[in-house]
Amino acid sequence: MTKVIINGSKGRMGAALLACGALMPEVQVMAGIDVGDELPAAVSSCDVVIDFSFHSVTPKVARLCAERGKALVIGTTGHSDADKAVIRDAAKSIPMVWATNFSTGVNTLFWLTRKAAQILGPSFDLEVVEMHHRLKKDAPSGTATTLLEILGAVRKLELESALRHGRKGITGERTSHEIGVHALRGGDVVGDHTVIFATNGERIELTHKASSRDTFANGALRAAVWLVGRPPGIYDMQNVLGLED
Ligand SMILES: NC(=O)c1ccc[n+]([C@@H]2O[C@H](COP(=O)([O-])OP(=O)(O)OC[C@H]3O[C@@H](n4cnc5c(N)ncnc54)[C@H](O)[C@@H]3O)[C@@H](O)[C@H]2O)c1
Repeated sequence: MTKVIINGSKGRMGAALLACGALMPEVQVMAGIDVGDELPAAVSSCDVVIDFSFHSVTPKVARLCAERGKALVIGTTGHSDADKAVIRDAAKSIPMVWATNFSTGVNTLFWLTRKAAQILGPSFDLEVVEMHHRLKKDAPSGTATTLLEILGAVRKLELESALRHGRKGITGERTSHEIGVHALRGGDVVGDHTVIFATNGERIELTHKASSRDTFANGALRAAVWLVGRPPGIYDMQNVLGLED
């Protein structure tokens, strides 16, 4: 039985994690922690902390887990470079699964995106479109960012200069060394992502649509069970699902 603590338990994902955790026989949820609660006091009761809170909170959680020797699953997105540096430092002493998306479907989309980019080559223009609910606080989504990182790695593009966030005005013709990225916001959309590969005469669109947060929650809980007892370091959902190749 894997003992977990949910950090960010009163949020949308927190609620899904508590509900799905109660139904998963190999998991015991020891506590839900949110603003005003004391994670340091609770952490000794668990094997692994699952963090779905806010980007600036994760570094503190990572430091605490490193001090106490607890594994950490990070679902929170939108981290700054400074946040990421602290998290990476903590991972020298504890195992972490750090994933922008825990759904099996989206991780299959990551795999398919890498394969399609390798097969199709540089004559195909790349665009990524994502849509989320109106309350989402970061853009583009963490999942879109992972898709862009996959495309950038295959095409050997520096994302800093290659990304075109939306287009406006006299942009000039599209170059072959740019990747367009478009973040739509509205309503209660849980998370839609499309990767477009377009060339003269044909176009491929790979689309994933999430309709329930349970898909992320069950993936994060599965990652927590997988993680406990692993060597220190940073793993992602591709490792949990065995989709590395
Ligand atoms: N990796 C994935 O699969 C995945 C899926 C969905 C959402 N997310 C990400 O998860 C995060 C949470 O998303 P959400 O939709 O549940 O947001 P949300 O705003 O509904 O919930 C966040 C919760 O964190 C709490 N929180 C803030 N500061 C805290 C602190 N110091 N200690 C403990 N709790 C604190 C808030 O009070 C809130 O209850 C976001 O970064 C989102 O992008 C990731």
